[in-house]
Amino acid sequence: MKINKEFSKYAHKYQQLNQIQTEVAKKLVDSLNRSLMEKPQKILDLGCGTGAIYKLIDWELEKFVGVDFSPSMLALHPQGERLTCKLGDFNDANLFRDLEKEDFDFIISASALQWADDLESVFTHIAKFELPFSLAIFTSGTFATLNKTAGIDSVIPAYEKIKQLSQKCLHVRETNVEKVVYTLEFENTREMFRYIKKSGVSGNRNLLTYKQTKKLMQEYPLNYLEFEVVYINSFSKA
Ligand SMILES: C[S@@+](CC[C@H](N)C(=O)[O-])C[C@H]1O[C@@H](n2cnc3c(N)ncnc32)[C@H](O)[C@@H]1O
Repeated sequence: MKINKEFSKYAHKYQQLNQIQTEVAKKLVDSLNRSLMEKPQKILDLGCGTGAIYKLIDWELEKFVGVDFSPSMLALHPQGERLTCKLGDFNDANLFRDLEKEDFDFIISASALQWADDLESVFTHIAKFELPFSLAIFTSGTFATLNKTAGIDSVIPAYEKIKQLSQKCLHVRETNVEKVVYTLEFENTREMFRYIKKSGVSGNRNLLTYKQTKKLMQEYPLNYLEFEVVYINSFSKA
């Protein structure tokens, strides 16, 4: 199953199961509030999902374009006069060709770009806009203990790799890159695995057989999951 199908399949559950992503979106919007004298008016949100970013914006906007490749996620995004929900894939250069013709003053992306097929290319496209931006990207430190216990490699990029690409392509300073680790506790491993499946954070790479999953559930040493997120912005510490 492709990742977009995975997000679409569990879109209706996303808003119940996205505690960490909600924290991430809040931190992004809070840092805009604290750091920018003039709030952006024409915002592009890459991987907007069900609208976590849009819902947190409490100032008047001229325009907001949310892009996502999951029709089911977009269907749950708020609608509005100055708001466009655009079906598009940030792995597709044509999407950026279209977006570059539009007028924006800020680019934001929360909890989505870890799914880029080629993060260097997406960063290069973002840099071309020559606009301020704020991005939050999950790293391979997410589910670190789980992956280690199962003996599998993360399918999303490592913090160091993301940091290096952000300096190379987005030309940010070291102080504009911040790593934050979150934990989410569960009553038991069954609940934890249900969360992983339904939250869409796994990207549904079914790397484990039923037997391996059962073994992992017995051997997982923690009562929480780890999430590692890198915040990158063009203006100040997030
Ligand atoms: C974890 S959700 C985050 C949604 C929202 N930004 C938030 O903070 O709640 C990731 C979103 O990225 C979208 N996504 C993943 N890969 C994408 C791609 N290549 N192009 C566009 N959207 C993508 C998914 O459909 C999903 O809605």
